[in-house]
Amino acid sequence: MHKQSRHKQSRGFMIALEGVDGSGKSGLARSLSAALRDAGHEVLATHEPGGTEAGAALRKILLASNAYDWTPTAELLLMNASRRQHIDQVILPALQAGKIVLCDRFVGSTIAYQGAGRGLSEALILDLHRLTIEDLWPDLTLVLDLDPKVALERSRSRLQQSQIDEGRFEALDLAFHRRVRQSFLDQAAKLPAPYKVVDADRPPELVEREALSQVSEILAERIP
Ligand code: TYD
Repeated sequence: MHKQSRHKQSRGFMIALEGVDGSGKSGLARSLSAALRDAGHEVLATHEPGGTEAGAALRKILLASNAYDWTPTAELLLMNASRRQHIDQVILPALQAGKIVLCDRFVGSTIAYQGAGRGLSEALILDLHRLTIEDLWPDLTLVLDLDPKVALERSRSRLQQSQIDEGRFEALDLAFHRRVRQSFLDQAAKLPAPYKVVDADRPPELVEREALSQVSEILAERIP
């Protein structure tokens, strides 16, 4: 298995938020960013796929409901193209400037969705990550764990209300999303990079409080 690698000149700290669609990542990203800024940190909040102009264009063609029938490997390569652009233009410069980067989804989503979900081998995904993303792993990955049955309902109704056409993954069946959830739990159990699982089936204030305490604990170890 891989070892976590950080960029040579990096003084910053990277947190990834992961979870099934509708697990509450976006809300947590907002409150966590605010709390960390209040504590005096410089925070860059970003997301994948996307996070750059080119990445936003890739996001559209990856997530639009009926736009393209990408094959799993093509989908994997596009996720990596978006990620490479993102690390080059946004993430590494922010880490080098000493910021906290809070990224809504990162490589954990690729392992879960393209790996467990679509059925691509984890070895392929990890090799590609090593070869194309400089094997950059977050300092902390927070997994918001929630039953996909509950989470998907939330996510689908939010998409309907917003009229945003990003429902390609939400349209997949429950079995797909169950594999995705299980993958996040498996990653937390077996990958050497630090993962923390947070029970997201609770009021948002409690989820936020636990997430913030996990972040503060690991930040205190890394940035004494
Ligand atoms: P996101 O905007 O976080 O959706 P939501 O707010 O509904 O959780 O993510 C968009 C979708 O992209 C999500 O369904 C998962 C998918 N995705 C992958 O399949 N692989 C990846 O590597 C990434 C980053 C996202």
